[in-house]
Amino acid sequence: MIDYDRFLSRAGEALLQSAIRQMGVMAAQLPDVISFAPGYPAPETFAWDEYREIAGELLRGRDGRVLQYGPTRGYPQLLEVFQQRLRARGIVAAIDELMVTTGSQQGLHLVGRVLIDPGDVVLVELPSYTGAIAAFKNAQATLVGVKQEVDGIDLAELDEVHRQHVRAGRRVKLLYLVPNFQNPTGLLIGLDKRRRLLEWAQRADVLIVEDDPYCDLYFEDAAHAADTRPIKADDDEGRVIYLSSLSKTLAPGFRVAWMQAPASLITKFDTAKQSTDLCTSGLDQRIAYEACRRGLLDRQVPILRRYYQRKRTVMASALSRELGDLANWPHPRGGFFLWVALPTGVDTQGMLARAMERQVIYVAGRPFFVDGSGSHLMRLSFSLPSAERIEEGVRRLADVVRAELEARTASEGNDDVGHGSTPGR
Ligand SMILES: Cc1ncc(COP(=O)(O)O)c(C=O)c1O
Repeated sequence: MIDYDRFLSRAGEALLQSAIRQMGVMAAQLPDVISFAPGYPAPETFAWDEYREIAGELLRGRDGRVLQYGPTRGYPQLLEVFQQRLRARGIVAAIDELMVTTGSQQGLHLVGRVLIDPGDVVLVELPSYTGAIAAFKNAQATLVGVKQEVDGIDLAELDEVHRQHVRAGRRVKLLYLVPNFQNPTGLLIGLDKRRRLLEWAQRADVLIVEDDPYCDLYFEDAAHAADTRPIKADDDEGRVIYLSSLSKTLAPGFRVAWMQAPASLITKFDTAKQSTDLCTSGLDQRIAYEACRRGLLDRQVPILRRYYQRKRTVMASALSRELGDLANWPHPRGGFFLWVALPTGVDTQGMLARAMERQVIYVAGRPFFVDGSGSHLMRLSFSLPSAERIEEGVRRLADVVRAELEARTASEGNDDVGHGSTPGR
């Protein structure tokens, strides 16, 4: 038997598995599981008929480019569509500042590959998106967390943390943010804070990576398009690298996303992408392009807002009913997630075994925190299960939490007896 570990590079040894993907594997093994784990869009929202029609037309074979290699930067007409969509959000982008990526996840990977030397500091929120944490860690960045407030990252702490690392002689290169309906918290960075973050990044000479896959999914009872104005829209010096995706609106299976950055950086990302996948799937890009050109995306988005808003409300009401005395969570104004805090001391990672027995799963909080905290938190995604399954899943989850708390109380009682300390502490 060959011991392949001996062949691994240091970077290969250090590769970080996604906690969310692992949960997906576990969920697949349970017959009746209700999974609040993955942030997947609901397949019932996919425009199957339209995709079938578009794909049928494209696959008649009249246009060989559909199944051919294409430009690394993406299908030119699709880039123009993204250019127009960005303009509608206040971002003026030249075509040579744009690139299609195979999911935003690839964009994050390319950012790490092109901009990070081992040990460079990337500042992230506490908590932050695990896929970005993995992409930057795999590029051997030093990830440093900054506390989050309800309107986004804490600016005073950001400044202090930055100063500390600069004083220690480290190169602080990037600040990674998900300003709209963040994964995992669902929070929205306030407009004033967005402006101040940009000013801070200019002063500190740090690049902002703005990851924005949920921008269209604001709930009309609680937010407006204006609340989601990208930081990039006010960036007149090329300080922000902006990423967005069609995964949460059309479908993630197309793997079509895009990034915008100054042209000189896009050239570098293009070169790095060449050695990653040569180009994003031509067929997928053409379907995405047709979906945009025919107005499908614009018709879909308001439907999705209402659809996910309803599921958010179902989950939030079920949580209030079943766990309102024990848990709290910020009210999400868009996106896919509810971020639930349990009483301090509950370890949501440890509680997963009990949850799996009850056939309900979630993502434990800790993987979202680069400082190892967050153990009493969990991310519940309401996007995929039906309303009925959400209600049933929250009931199961409430049983799990209560059983966990009872077990803890009992074991604390035993500890007290064992150590001879005062009962009822
Ligand atoms: C904040 C964030 N960034 C990036 C991604 C990756 O998206 P894509 O499917 O475009 O790779 C996700 C997916 O969940 C996400 O939540």
